[in-house]
Amino acid sequence: MSESNMPVMDRDDSHGWSSRTAFVLGAIGSAIGIGNVWRFPFVCYENGGGAFLLAYLIALFTAGIPLLLLEMGLGHKTLSGPPRAYGSIKKPLEWLGWLAVLVGFVLVCYYAVIMSWCANYFVFSFDLKWGDDPAGFFNKFLNKSDPTNIFSLGSIIPGILIGLVVMWIWVVLSIWKGAKTVSKVVYVTVILPWLILIIFVIRGVTLPGAMDGLAFYLTPDFSKLLEPKVWIAAYGQVFFSLSLGFGIMIAYASFLPKKSDIVNNVFIIALADSATAFVGGIAVFSGIGFLCHQTGSSIDQISGGPGLAFVTYPAIINQFPFAPQLFGILFFLMLLTLAIDSAFSLLETVVTGVMDKWHISRATANIGIAFIAMLCGIVFTTQAGLYWLDIVDNFNTNFVLIIVGILEAIAIAYVLGPKKLREHVNLTSDFKIGVWWDWIIRIVVPVVLIIGLGWAMYITINEDKPYGGYQSSAVFVGGWGLLIILPVVALILTVLKSKKQS
Ligand code: PHE
Repeated sequence: MSESNMPVMDRDDSHGWSSRTAFVLGAIGSAIGIGNVWRFPFVCYENGGGAFLLAYLIALFTAGIPLLLLEMGLGHKTLSGPPRAYGSIKKPLEWLGWLAVLVGFVLVCYYAVIMSWCANYFVFSFDLKWGDDPAGFFNKFLNKSDPTNIFSLGSIIPGILIGLVVMWIWVVLSIWKGAKTVSKVVYVTVILPWLILIIFVIRGVTLPGAMDGLAFYLTPDFSKLLEPKVWIAAYGQVFFSLSLGFGIMIAYASFLPKKSDIVNNVFIIALADSATAFVGGIAVFSGIGFLCHQTGSSIDQISGGPGLAFVTYPAIINQFPFAPQLFGILFFLMLLTLAIDSAFSLLETVVTGVMDKWHISRATANIGIAFIAMLCGIVFTTQAGLYWLDIVDNFNTNFVLIIVGILEAIAIAYVLGPKKLREHVNLTSDFKIGVWWDWIIRIVVPVVLIIGLGWAMYITINEDKPYGGYQSSAVFVGGWGLLIILPVVALILTVLKSKKQS
């Protein structure tokens, strides 16, 4: 397609980033999330420890950075959020943009609920309310209903609902004037969690038993590199951690000034994110080593996932020799400030997409979309909430998101042509990207993601029981259903008439 087919887009400058640092911090804030502190360490240790770092770095350079370049380049070139950005390549591709936005919308519905748990635990920290039995306390907190019939939702848990409302108000205010407000917010919400993380690293490594925890985390098992599952985990983690596929980086880059050095920004963002994940692992595993030292339990009994933040870490905090309350407060403040940037980057992307198409006011889009997302999130605040969250998360991020990733690479590789985007990016960048990038987008990214998706689907379908052992009807509604509903809703949004700017 010719350059002239790409319409020149409007972008209201008053909503741009206030400085390059603000943009980089915003993108880093989206990338660095709770995934760095609890997902990365566990994925790393389960997949060969120190050897996994090698797989991770290869994944970063062969998929993470190239895709980040793609998304940022596209946003910067088209000055648009995902739907209009893809639509300007070829009209029907607008659908792909909406699909990306919808995956993000679904994610933020339950992400805000996890933030609400953190907010509750932040309050509990003041008097270490979980007491001597953090596991029992967490179960009481969620008050889970019968897992064999998750259609009966039970009642709403008031504390979680209140937290959810508060979190949404915080998210809405953080993007009140778009990139302009975000530019101010990120100085606190990106830098503060970093400072707290450093405190936890220092605290962690100076505790007895810390070195055993670190040895467990990092001792390389190179034989693992022969297992395909390790490589899939590495690509999956890179994809998730850099917030790729949701169109966030497209929307964020669309607010950059014309002369921005994209390549440079991309490398800073990708390397800062990886470094934070690595350091997050040091904080977590030194604490776990200490916990085992104190209680005599063995490290492989410790679980990742939600249990790590809400059960294991409170247990670690209980053992701290001084000011455990303070460390509890800091820990949950760190999680909250890590998560907030990811949450508002998701909302901002949906808002940008809607504003590009219908030109409604930012305030209306912001409040309206946040309100709908909050209502959708209420199901996750019920006694069956955790089960639904588990199902929806698995299918949304492992399946629909990867499909978006595959399609976005194909759209650029075979419809737009990677050379056009590369030349655009190189125009303003000191370090130029070479033709290697074209081939990564044409071949490596689609092939790797298709294998990963095929593998994940194969495992899910061939398990004896439906996903997670839930009722198959529930897995159909909350899981496979997403694979049908999201593309259909994306199609509806695509064919709806847009409103010209008045
Ligand atoms: N990158 C975030 C993390 O590492 C996860 C995330 C992805 C959050 C996309 C928001 C959007 O935790």
